[in-house]
Amino acid sequence: MIRQTVYITKTNVNNRGETKMPIAPMTNAVGIDLGTSTIKLTCGDQKYRIPSVIGNPNPGWTGMTSDKSWLNNLIIEDSKGQEVYIGELARLQSEIRKPLASEGKMKSIENSLLALKAILSLIMKSNYEQFVVGTGVPIATGTEESKLLSRGLKGTHEVKVRNDSTGESKQMKILVEQVFIAPEPYGTYWYTLKTSGVQTAVDSIIVDIGHGTTDILCMYKGNMMRAASGSLEEAVDSLTSVLSRAIQEKSGKIVRPFDLMMAIEQGKTNILVGGKALDISAAMNQAVTSIADVVVDESNRLLNNLPPDAWIEKVIICGGGSYVFGQYLKDAFFEANIVKKKDEVIMPEDAVMSNALGFEQIAQTKLRK
Ligand SMILES: Nc1ncnc2c1ncn2[C@@H]1O[C@H](COP(=O)(O)OP(=O)(O)OP(=O)(O)O)[C@@H](O)[C@H]1O
Ligand SMILES: [Mg+2]
Repeated sequence: MIRQTVYITKTNVNNRGETKMPIAPMTNAVGIDLGTSTIKLTCGDQKYRIPSVIGNPNPGWTGMTSDKSWLNNLIIEDSKGQEVYIGELARLQSEIRKPLASEGKMKSIENSLLALKAILSLIMKSNYEQFVVGTGVPIATGTEESKLLSRGLKGTHEVKVRNDSTGESKQMKILVEQVFIAPEPYGTYWYTLKTSGVQTAVDSIIVDIGHGTTDILCMYKGNMMRAASGSLEEAVDSLTSVLSRAIQEKSGKIVRPFDLMMAIEQGKTNILVGGKALDISAAMNQAVTSIADVVVDESNRLLNNLPPDAWIEKVIICGGGSYVFGQYLKDAFFEANIVKKKDEVIMPEDAVMSNALGFEQIAQTKLRK
């Protein structure tokens, strides 16, 4: 048997001869994607998705819901001591709901800060924790707003949260040591580069097709190019609206866009309308084609604003919409001559969380410094 000798260095032993426990890194690296429809958060093996909405309190019967999770029953106290519903609870129960972002940009810094503090409380295991936060904001968010968000987030915060279902409350302290803010698709750019082991910055275009907006970000020599980036209202939401109208015209029956979204997510092309099966594949193909064409046209237009020596080596498609539009976009970007080979159009493995994952990796690099 080989015996291994363990040497305890002086620094690990105190003057009573006791070995000190290694100190685990105390600061959490967190990645956030503050989208127009959902906020995504990743921290190690924890991953959350919350609707990007806050709302007024609307007390009901506590303890009646089967879902008692903090995630879906989250209430935070604002600076005036008023309770505010966050995410799913606001979406389902508030009478006045305020989206955190719309038209491709953040709406209220104050509300976004409140939501961010509330969701940071979800990952805390003790009542005092430190964070380095990397967060993506909608692409049309101005630099001034980003600075305000960063300033507001940095520092110490007393956070009071309550679970609407169980009535349990928690009071905690959060120290946000550092904040990094960039447009959402930058997260996926970073994530894709790091996970594929590419060391150098490659000129790329990142297309993030979400629920309500499609964000397009152009990268040139490692820089985010503002004039060559923008957002579109064509996204998954527009696909379901177009489909819903087409179905209504054909069958005279109303199918809500939301229900269509569920069908699309499950990859169904046969749906039940008024008790009868209806094949929506033709209507779907048509709608996907026309929306994807708008995305490619807009990308082409934005690319005109890049310097002439730019050479697009990668088109990265992310967001939930990449599952529906991805294949068509791959062909369309190739046919539009934006890439030279089809395999230069890539999709990250977790296309919905990839922005947040990238921002978490960025936060981790700040942690080590
Ligand atoms: N596996 C899937 N297949 C098809 N569609 C999906 C899939 N997963 C998510 N989606 C659709 O993608 C949309 C959500 O994508 P994503 O989470 O990227 O949007 P978002 O970030 O919340 O929106 P936005 O970027 O506008 O804020 C939803 O409309 C959903 O129906
Ligand atoms: Mg998004």
